[in-house]
Amino acid sequence: MYSQITGIGSYLPGPPVANDELARRGIDTSDEWIASRTGIRFRHLAENGETSSDLALHASRQALAAAGCAASAIDLIIVATSTPDFIFPSTACLLQAKLGNQGATAFDVQAVCSGFVYALTVADKFIRSGSHRRALVVGAEVFSHILDWSDRTTCVLFGDGAGAVVLEASDKPGILASTLHADGAHHAILSVPGSVCKGVVTGDPFLRMDGQAVFKFAVRVLAEAADECCRIAAVSPSTIDWLIPHQANVRILEATARKMRIPLDKVVISVDRHGNTSAASVPLALDEAVRAGRIRSGQRIMLEGVGGGFTWGAVLLDI
Ligand code: ACO
Repeated sequence: MYSQITGIGSYLPGPPVANDELARRGIDTSDEWIASRTGIRFRHLAENGETSSDLALHASRQALAAAGCAASAIDLIIVATSTPDFIFPSTACLLQAKLGNQGATAFDVQAVCSGFVYALTVADKFIRSGSHRRALVVGAEVFSHILDWSDRTTCVLFGDGAGAVVLEASDKPGILASTLHADGAHHAILSVPGSVCKGVVTGDPFLRMDGQAVFKFAVRVLAEAADECCRIAAVSPSTIDWLIPHQANVRILEATARKMRIPLDKVVISVDRHGNTSAASVPLALDEAVRAGRIRSGQRIMLEGVGGGFTWGAVLLDI
């Protein structure tokens, strides 16, 4: 028993917001600084009150339509998010209600920017165990709601969005291999170190990051995870048609491709137009590349995540 992606969808809220627009809104920055350090030119920002489950709903409907699958036929819903609508219930349960699905297993996965790769791996294992047949796997984030808009070192880097896939049982792969890792000793280099206690926010409720530490860590583990995934699947990295790493920063993508000896024209890049959308970034990039006709049926793809925790992982699949 294997699992196979049968439908993909995505959603971006509102119009694109250019770097210059952030400067016009009073952030002490410039298009030149942001673009040269990160490759980011635009991001999309959700309205106040627009939630991860709202974004997830749009992406999920697209993925279900692409798969030709009714919401009622889904028996597993996993939402990867670090910006849930509520402390509880899970965003997956809220999405389930909005889709009109009843009875499916539904839960969130919290692995920050590795969230989608974690969620896809979990869904693959549920399906391969035979317990479930049809999963909806979603990455959805409203990071703009947890940014300190007075901190120019972080607020210019992120955007909001959602991406979704339908993953179904199949007698041929599908997902060939996956690997997931974490090292909590590095939790402080990327975190939102606040919480709610007795009705009061305690600690810092905004995203904080040591950019240079994150950069070095990300490049190392992305290359290692891809190598490991190829070893598990017993395939050569040269058989990969497309590399879709987490979209944090063009310089991280370029350095990873160089380390893996994969030419840059095989790397899907959407961070320039989306910013870093955390758990949504990989399925958003995948959906765009499929809809643009760049990724075609029969091709081999390496998906990669890296993010707060620190967490990282990779999924190798034939589409
Ligand atoms: N606009 C203008 N100037 C800025 C901005 C900004 N938005 N942000 C910082 N600066 C200034 C700083 O104040 C500093 O000025 P100073 O020299 O006068 O003190 C100068 O630019 C350089 O700052 P650094 O932090 O040293 O800049 P660096 O070259 O390290 O680039 C960056 C920062 C882009 C964050 C880089 O470290 C990076 O790409 N890190 C990877 C982190 C990342 O992508 N995180 C995403 C989330 S993590 C994830 O998804 C895995």
